[in-house]
Amino acid sequence: MEGLYVRKGEAELKLPEKTIRIPIYEGSEGERGFDISALRKETGYITYDPGLVNTGACDSQITYINGEKGILRHRGYDIEDLAENCYFLEVAYLLIHGKLPSKREYNAFSDLMNRNSMIHEDMHNFFRNYPEGAHPMAVLSAMVVSLSSFYPEMENPVANEDMDMTVTRLLSKLRTIAAFSYKKSVGEPFVYPSHKYTYCENFLNMMFSSPVSDYKPDPVAVRALNLYLTIHADHEQNCSTSVVRFVGSAGSNLYASISAGICALWGPLHGGANEAVVNMIEGAIRDKLSPESLIAKAKDKASKFRLMGFGHRVYKAYDPRAKIAKRTCKKLLEKLGSSKDPIFEYAMELEDKALKDQYFVDKNLYPNVDFYTGIGYRAMGIPTSMFTVLFALGRLPGWIAQWLEMRDSKAQKIGRPRQIYTGPLKKEFVPLDKR
Ligand code: CMC
Repeated sequence: MEGLYVRKGEAELKLPEKTIRIPIYEGSEGERGFDISALRKETGYITYDPGLVNTGACDSQITYINGEKGILRHRGYDIEDLAENCYFLEVAYLLIHGKLPSKREYNAFSDLMNRNSMIHEDMHNFFRNYPEGAHPMAVLSAMVVSLSSFYPEMENPVANEDMDMTVTRLLSKLRTIAAFSYKKSVGEPFVYPSHKYTYCENFLNMMFSSPVSDYKPDPVAVRALNLYLTIHADHEQNCSTSVVRFVGSAGSNLYASISAGICALWGPLHGGANEAVVNMIEGAIRDKLSPESLIAKAKDKASKFRLMGFGHRVYKAYDPRAKIAKRTCKKLLEKLGSSKDPIFEYAMELEDKALKDQYFVDKNLYPNVDFYTGIGYRAMGIPTSMFTVLFALGRLPGWIAQWLEMRDSKAQKIGRPRQIYTGPLKKEFVPLDKR
């Protein structure tokens, strides 16, 4: 065990054959775990935990969550403080470098970001050949893994300067790829990144400017985008981050690991939920379904329907990111002059009714980060199919920080869970002509 993890006594495990002692470790915020790494060797038993609900796969110094109290901190800083006071790039720097940047460091980081924002011209051909209507998440994942063939020298950063360059290039180029994937989906020419813009301004400009119309990034949208990206920046060992660590644990390069993480994020139970929330509400409004009827359907065990944007594996209280997303969404709609957005109104009514419903109360189901973000993106003019791409853009610094931590950990081993085999016992083999 590394870092601030300390040994805190032992537990006794009584098995039919023998009794063994299992070390207990405690993290810096008091979270305790049994170290069962020697269990099978000592006893022949494994642990069984589908969905890894109770399994700690690593120790980490990046993000702390207390799901019962609704606390989220990165490197010790509360998400509220970071979201209200930082640019997204400051938070990205914090996650990756372990400390908030000084003004000089921040300027150097932004500058490096600008200088590495273009993608190889040959990569443009890939974009051109995707079919109309290709989902931007498919394009994003494929393009990220393709970066390894265009920039092989940044695959496996070793020295600190290489790492800075790799990380900055990836952060900067993912933004360009994301905007290009949108331009491709609407059949418009690509807009190149520009040195005159900040990170979020640049993204909005690449999305919305065109050869026939000038575009000036709206400061309200820029601020909201900074906030939204910040609240997605990391969330410890969630599905996509675990995938990034897992793929990386085989020694695969950073691009391959992130590309796999993007695929995991795409699912509607994970990052794809922001898209699913807006589709769910739009469908309900179109079909004249009341919030009560959605709630009834979500409670009906015979139906597979779930209230999208509700519930969380870790949070059993209000997700602190959802609070920020809701507040930001409200401000955005007010400032952009559409405070009576029907989707936002419906979402607030749905939240209100669900939070009073006994089923949701008993199961501690609250709105999660995805419940209000899509509505905010929509207000900025970002199409639904791009919502999860925005999640990926926000999550990228977290994935990078977790991948680097995994790579540098002394406890690092290839990810390789066990199973309990429940298939047939040994059978006699029958050759093809006798079957
Ligand atoms: N609507 C209705 N019932 C729900 C919901 C929901 N959204 N979420 C959980 N439940 C019920 C579930 O049916 C189960 O009931 P029972 O104990 O009677 O079987 C109970 O609550 C516990 O749910 P679970 O599926 O065992 O919990 P989990 O930790 O495995 O799943 C989750 C977490 C986020 C996948 C789930 O809450 C869900 O499917 N939510 C909707 C999709 C969503 O919003 N995903 C975004 C997650 S946050 C951002 C991110 O990670 O990307």
